[in-house]
Amino acid sequence: MRKNIVAGNWKMNNDLGATATLITALKQKKNEGNAEVIIAPTFVNLYSAFDSLSDSNITVAAQNMHQAESGAYTGEISAGMLKGIGVDTVILGHSERRAYFHESDELLAQKVDSALKNNMRIIFCFGEELEDRKAGKEENVVGSQLKNALFHLDASAWSNIVLAYEPVWAIGTGETASPEQAQDMHAFIRKTVAEKYNSDVAENVSILYGGSVKPANAKEIFGKPDVDGGLIGGAALKADDFFDIVNAFA
Ligand code: 13P
Repeated sequence: MRKNIVAGNWKMNNDLGATATLITALKQKKNEGNAEVIIAPTFVNLYSAFDSLSDSNITVAAQNMHQAESGAYTGEISAGMLKGIGVDTVILGHSERRAYFHESDELLAQKVDSALKNNMRIIFCFGEELEDRKAGKEENVVGSQLKNALFHLDASAWSNIVLAYEPVWAIGTGETASPEQAQDMHAFIRKTVAEKYNSDVAENVSILYGGSVKPANAKEIFGKPDVDGGLIGGAALKADDFFDIVNAFA
């Protein structure tokens, strides 16, 4: 049975002090539902976040990683290094990484392989741009993002994959996909996974929605049958808002 998950992608926000303050506030909150809670602080603050959350049920994830195990890649961080500090979940393929750091599907396939080789769980992000949706091409785009980065995997690898559908036009814009738009795309994604693998893989993979999720719209979006939670940006930076979203599952 697939899990409900609410993950906070902090992006490039919160220094060491702000990370500690937000974590203290998050630890005081009660998870009243059944969703796993994940936060993804910046690389430099991952270990302190992991350490302060060791006595809680909140999981810490990285926002990115390099595909190589080690070597001359100045400024980069490997899966093994993340595992070494206790972090075993990584977000890959975020649209900001695709757009600003030119991460292609092919590169992402390599990152996926490296993460899985290191027994990490992946929150794999993908989603169409506004022009794609206007042109009615959103399913083509999403289908090929999935296929190019993930469909080389064996069915067994999918127990470590979480999908996060994030339509680019809804990220940080205040414009959310309607619950129906999210449901339609999630159902398409699940069907595409079922066609490639089998219904077991498709029914067991959690598919999160991301893009301007807020306390005011979380319950309706998460209420859709193929939406298994959210990847939250801006609203994850406030403990009250984030836990109001987490408790949309209560
Ligand atoms: P917002 O919730 O700020 O729109 O960001 C979504 C996102 O990009 C999460 O990864």
